[in-house]
Amino acid sequence: MVFGKICVGLVLSVVIFEFAEQVKGRFCDGKRDGDYTNPSNCYGFIACSGGIAYDMPCPAGLKFDEKKDACDYNAPCYQEFCKNKSDGDYADPNNRYGFITCSGGLTYYRNCPANLRFNQTLDECVWALI
Ligand SMILES: *[C@@H]1O[C@H](CO)[C@@H](O)[C@H](O)[C@H]1NC(C)=O
Ligand SMILES: *[C@@H]1O[C@H](CO)[C@@H](O)[C@H](O)[C@H]1NC(C)=O
Repeated sequence: MVFGKICVGLVLSVVIFEFAEQVKGRFCDGKRDGDYTNPSNCYGFIACSGGIAYDMPCPAGLKFDEKKDACDYNAPCYQEFCKNKSDGDYADPNNRYGFITCSGGLTYYRNCPANLRFNQTLDECVWALI
């Protein structure tokens, strides 16, 4: 637990913090400083610090486990994006450079090849100027 936290903390502070984006909204209102499951993305978490929410990605392929407070290969995924959706690819509301594949009600996050963006109409990752 502590070990994971330290490892993740080091990696995050060096690599990932640069990419942290301040999340709009009031996610952290009334919450203590700490890391929380991101309700819309298993592959990252929300860090609350002084009432401000930061959207933090996990290292590629890892999912956030709130109980361990660490990113882990085997972390459960609480994402319910695909519940009630038919199988197929969907635009990822949190990641223009990726998409979400629903299969049998399970949610799979996919990344587009570098710099490509998902186009829902084409159901493909494509170059986009804007
Ligand atoms: C979505 O799920 C609810 C129950 O959770 C169900 O009543 C509803 O019919 C489902 N809708 C679709 C489109 O499957
Ligand atoms: C997706 O591709 C279609 C067909 O090329 C295009 O008309 C549309 O603007 C694209 N959508 C986005 C969001 O880029």
